Amino acid sequence: MHLQFTEEQDMMRKMVRDFAREEIAPQIEKMEENDEFPYEIIRKMGEYGLMGIPIPEAYGGSEADFISYIIAINEISKVSPTVGVILSVHTSVGTNPILYFGNEEQKKKYVPKLATGEYIGAFALTEPSAGSDAAGMRTTAVKQGDKYILNGSKIFITNGGAASTYIVFAVTDSSKGPKGISAFIVEKDTPGFTVGKKEKKMGLHGSSTTELIFDNAEVPAANLLGEEGMGFTIAMANLDVGRIGIASQGLGIAEGALEHAIAYAKERVQFGKPIAAQQGIGFKLADMATQTEAARMLVYRAAALRNAGVKCGLEASMAKKFATDTAMKVTTEAIQVFGGYGYTREYPVERLFRDAKVTQIYEGTNQIQRLVISKHLLNK
Ligand code: CAA
Repeated sequence: MHLQFTEEQDMMRKMVRDFAREEIAPQIEKMEENDEFPYEIIRKMGEYGLMGIPIPEAYGGSEADFISYIIAINEISKVSPTVGVILSVHTSVGTNPILYFGNEEQKKKYVPKLATGEYIGAFALTEPSAGSDAAGMRTTAVKQGDKYILNGSKIFITNGGAASTYIVFAVTDSSKGPKGISAFIVEKDTPGFTVGKKEKKMGLHGSSTTELIFDNAEVPAANLLGEEGMGFTIAMANLDVGRIGIASQGLGIAEGALEHAIAYAKERVQFGKPIAAQQGIGFKLADMATQTEAARMLVYRAAALRNAGVKCGLEASMAKKFATDTAMKVTTEAIQVFGGYGYTREYPVERLFRDAKVTQIYEGTNQIQRLVISKHLLNK
């Protein structure tokens, strides 16, 4: 097992770290205050090739390896978990389903636009009464001539108000359970399709989380992804990989909070010496760093398996659960290190704490990750 990154991967880390510091950090206050989607940052990320990192050059991507993609989410999320999730959802579940399950025509039509950042991608699985029980969805798609007519609604859709294309899941045969679900590429201007309410969230300000409404939405039959009935498999297979992205977002949040806590503990003097030199704080930092290192190992191990083309659903779920729990623990402790200042908006740890919470919930709650892990163990 190699624990060293390659020269290319180190270069990606440096490039993204500089980008995050120079281009993203100055925009954070605006995103926090106005909850505005960072279109300008995304445009620049497109120019840097960051919106299609693991996508083949033939489809407009950067054709870097999967580990480099995970490094990019990791580094961006240290500074802005908001931009981290926009990138992860756009690539892992907004673009990859077309690349892996689309026909050549669909791939040529949509992937280059997504990979260059001209289009932002979204993934619409969750419904008001179908969250963890994703197969319990009620949105329907009925074939009429050369179209499917979609009716229903989706909620909590990341990139909802900003996307040009949505991977939408709907029931085409209600008698078949999960095997009666199909996947569609839905363009934003589709007649009968509208973006609904935008959520006001605890954290991840600047990321657009919305409802989607399908009222006799007319989707060309040519936009069916794969075959009828393949939708649930498409969703699950892409979530297997997508969860490594969210795990990396959690890792970035933990690393960011730890860096801020160490810097502050070295500066802040109480009882005549820096608080870092007091054992109560030194031990806390040691625990935070150890847990973050363990998360790093799980995240990059899952990424390395994926990079090698090995099935990694088990490792992805373990990484997602552990790294996002780590994000929550480390940001909680970081606030404690900062004391009263940590509870104010003057320092970034309270923002990272608010941003961390949802990572334990979306892309499959950490209870669902345990379900997936236990299913793998029992089926061995
Ligand atoms: N890969 C490929 N196919 C799979 C699969 C996988 N990992 N898991 C399941 N399937 C397919 C199989 O064909 C399976 O059929 P077989 O039994 O013949 O193998 C079929 O799906 C049904 O599988 P299950 O019986 O396991 O399905 P289930 O109804 O029990 O659900 C679940 C399983 C794991 C709980 C699933 O519903 C789930 O993952 N729920 C969480 C939903 C989720 O993650 N939502 C995230 C939304 S996206 C998001 O959050 C993005 C964001 O904003 C950050």
